[in-house]
Amino acid sequence: MNEHQTVSVKLGENSHQYEIKLGHDLLENSGNWARICLSEKNARIVIVSNPKIFRLYGEIVRKSLENADFEVFVFLMKDGERHKNLRSLEMLLKFNGENKLARTDAVVALGGGVVGDLAGFAAAVFLRGIAFLQIPTTLLAMIDSSVGGKTGVNSDFGKNLIGAFHQPNGVLIDVKTLKTLPKRELTAGFCEAVKHGAISNRQLFDQTADFLKKFPTKNFKKFFSDHDFFAELENLLAAQVAFKAEIVMNDEREAAARTDAKSRKILNFGHTLAHALEKATDYKYFKHGEAVGYGILFAAELSKILVILDTNELKLLNDVLQDVGKLPDTKNIEIEKVVQAFSFDKKNIGKSLQWILLKEIGKPVIFSNNDIPVSSIQKVLRKVLRKK
Ligand code: NAD
Ligand code: GLY
Repeated sequence: MNEHQTVSVKLGENSHQYEIKLGHDLLENSGNWARICLSEKNARIVIVSNPKIFRLYGEIVRKSLENADFEVFVFLMKDGERHKNLRSLEMLLKFNGENKLARTDAVVALGGGVVGDLAGFAAAVFLRGIAFLQIPTTLLAMIDSSVGGKTGVNSDFGKNLIGAFHQPNGVLIDVKTLKTLPKRELTAGFCEAVKHGAISNRQLFDQTADFLKKFPTKNFKKFFSDHDFFAELENLLAAQVAFKAEIVMNDEREAAARTDAKSRKILNFGHTLAHALEKATDYKYFKHGEAVGYGILFAAELSKILVILDTNELKLLNDVLQDVGKLPDTKNIEIEKVVQAFSFDKKNIGKSLQWILLKEIGKPVIFSNNDIPVSSIQKVLRKVLRKK
């Protein structure tokens, strides 16, 4: 395999360990990689993707898997968040059944978070669990959704509320696939990267901010001919992935009672507002990461007016979010609708909404909604959403 970096994910007794390989031009060797991640017994593989991604990268992966002696089947779901649902899941399970996948076979997700979440959930429930590999092709999927084993689908009663923890047997990140990623998706992914920077430590925050200054998302494609760019992109993504892996290793199942700074819940920094914005706009207006961009600004402003975050730290967060690319305008979004949407965030424990706030970069804290005056929330909402 070409030169690559490796991040290991070591989990408790009931989950296996796996490795995340990261580099460029790795897809060509995905067959050998899959052989190493799986066992000699794994004979059949279902690649789950969508037509757009498969057209770009599917044949390279299929050929490589076949060269490594896998019998390969391809399931293409429709593109888009609205297809991450029970109907697509049922079609995929039926496809697995028709192609006689056995306990010793595997599913490979080739795509963004939508494909990864659906394919992973199908692998979790088909025959009560078969092996599964992730080949993420969006920035968000590379640094976030492909790592950590959260899988699932959306339903009438909410996003991602039907799912399972099912860790992959391996993750292969070929950063070259980002060359074809639409700009908005890149911006959305970098918002999640800024989120990781904000809650991890100053080093990852600065590395992310410096990268965005040096390689603006506006001209991203043109950097793909630059050798330094690959090295810096791979180092950044490896550091991002290592942070996500560290959190997952510490709190694999997001224990409900944990409220410490290493709880998996801290990955929801920026997400309370993000979920409300997505809901208030019927999930049609924002890319998830874009909504997280506003959510980070909101959580940081809220932290500042509650006098836990210093003005300089707030400025650093505002500055880096200027560099991720343009976020959608929020001037027509009704503030009241957003406030109402907060109470529908079903992922919150009991009736109490939880906010992940910041004491400083790298120091997240979990606050109960009961400890925050409604007037402060409304004031900050107006400030953040009416900025443009
Ligand atoms: P996505 O999967 O919808 O992909 C975004 C778009 O980019 C799609 O149109 C896709 O076809 C296209 N695309 C993907 N790779 C491409 C490439 N290399 N070149 C060109 N086009 C490409 O979106 P996403 O942001 O990757 O994932 C969002 C999903 O991830 C949501 O459903 C969210 O709930 C989920 N998620 C899951 C976790 C987790 O831990 N499991 C974490 C965060 C988000
Ligand atoms: N994206 C949040 C998590 O993996 O927990």
